[in-house]
Amino acid sequence: MGSLPLDPAFVGRTFDDFLLRPQMGAVASRREVALTCRLTAALTLQLPILSANMDSVTGREMARAMALEGGLGVIHRGQSVERQADSVARVKRIHGAVIESPLSLPRGTSLREARAFARANNVTGILIEESAGSGVLAGLLSDRDMPWMSGFDHRPVDEFMTPIDRLHTHPPGISEEEAERILFERRIERLPLVDSERRIHGLITRKDVLFLRQRPFASKDAKGRLLVGAAIGARGDFLERAAALLEAGADCLVVDIAHGHSVVMAGAVEALRGRFGAVPLLCGNVATGEGAAYLADAGADAVKVGVGPGRGCRTRLETAAGVPQLQAIREAYCAVGERVPLIADGGVAHDKDIFLALVCGASTVMLGSALSGTDESPGQVIEDPATHTKRKIYRGMTSPQAVFESLYDGESEALGEALETPAEGQELQVPYKGSVVDILNRIRGHLQSAVSYAGEGSLEAARAKILPDPMRHLIPLSEAARRESYER
Ligand code: XMP
Repeated sequence: MGSLPLDPAFVGRTFDDFLLRPQMGAVASRREVALTCRLTAALTLQLPILSANMDSVTGREMARAMALEGGLGVIHRGQSVERQADSVARVKRIHGAVIESPLSLPRGTSLREARAFARANNVTGILIEESAGSGVLAGLLSDRDMPWMSGFDHRPVDEFMTPIDRLHTHPPGISEEEAERILFERRIERLPLVDSERRIHGLITRKDVLFLRQRPFASKDAKGRLLVGAAIGARGDFLERAAALLEAGADCLVVDIAHGHSVVMAGAVEALRGRFGAVPLLCGNVATGEGAAYLADAGADAVKVGVGPGRGCRTRLETAAGVPQLQAIREAYCAVGERVPLIADGGVAHDKDIFLALVCGASTVMLGSALSGTDESPGQVIEDPATHTKRKIYRGMTSPQAVFESLYDGESEALGEALETPAEGQELQVPYKGSVVDILNRIRGHLQSAVSYAGEGSLEAARAKILPDPMRHLIPLSEAARRESYER
């Protein structure tokens, strides 16, 4: 294992302790700057951002938005296996070039039921099967087929659907380009994929095709479906949870425990490899070079770095354990180099922290509080009638509130953890921030500018230049310089 020496200038230091020395710009426009990065050896993203597996940050809405913008959402595990797997399945189902298991209802379903079904699943077209579970296409019921006048509620969908003999269909195995051509040439909204026995193999919709075209950075799998990650623990029902999440289509598993540099984690990785083979495992958290090397040796595909920097964390306050986050990232990189990508997790207060994390060792950065309080984060908006301000809850996953809620939802592993560990997390109210898409676009722009100030045309090139010896490019700050830089 090649290892670099840790520059002493990193010891005891974190993001606000440094500035980047500006260098001659190399691009005409920062918009040209590519932010391509490695999540694992096999998974590439166009935006180096992950949303944290926390119950106040990543459910299916956040995961969807993250993937559409080029990052990745990691669905939290503070909920029952069924609910978590359902969220994964829903992210995989939306916006794929081909919807592989399109929603369907059998002939004979009433219009009232069909309407409720369409509303609950947020779809505007439903495939109608010959009989429940047969998988044989009888027709298509689109929103345009449904009468808006009253008095039709109890009539069967058969009376309103477009029957298969009047539908445009196509055999499975069609390319994205071919599907786009057919949708356009025939001026149709939906193209069901059926075999010679009329068995349903998928559905392609004009809406999805156009939507994805407008999101050039989207993180997609080989079938054109959005990428999604999901968290598991390292004890209790973690193997069953992993099986359900993979079955639902999760692209990677984040094996997430507070103290990842432990035999518990190594045992979990071994068990997961034994049962699921080469599935991408993102393991953590650790905060030292030894911890990162230990997880790389154990077979992790990426190592998550960060003990206690998070805004909802109390670990350092309660146990004194932790390493300043930029030191932790650099230490981990010095220990494992390019052998395994690092995910910097926690402590990002400003967008410049993300860039510093990336050029000191991280390949991607996981954000919690920075993405909380958004439309896409789970939880209600709280409106304060006195001040007319809007807020949302952000909380550590070991906060008493998060633990209580996960127990309520049948998350059995949480019970063991709750009985064993006192709370190392806390709940906060954060300002309501609107859509996370705006935040991600802001981050993208700031990262592109930072790369340009570093005198390079891509994040990859900036990392290649700075990573071997960051102190050639960073300026350690005095107290006065820090005030001048960051106090506003
Ligand atoms: P930020 O700073 O982005 O951090 O909000 C998000 C990360 O915080 C970690 N996390 C916790 N750490 N106790 C902790 O010590 C907790 O209850 C807790 N909950 C989340 C986690 O790594 C997350 O990604």
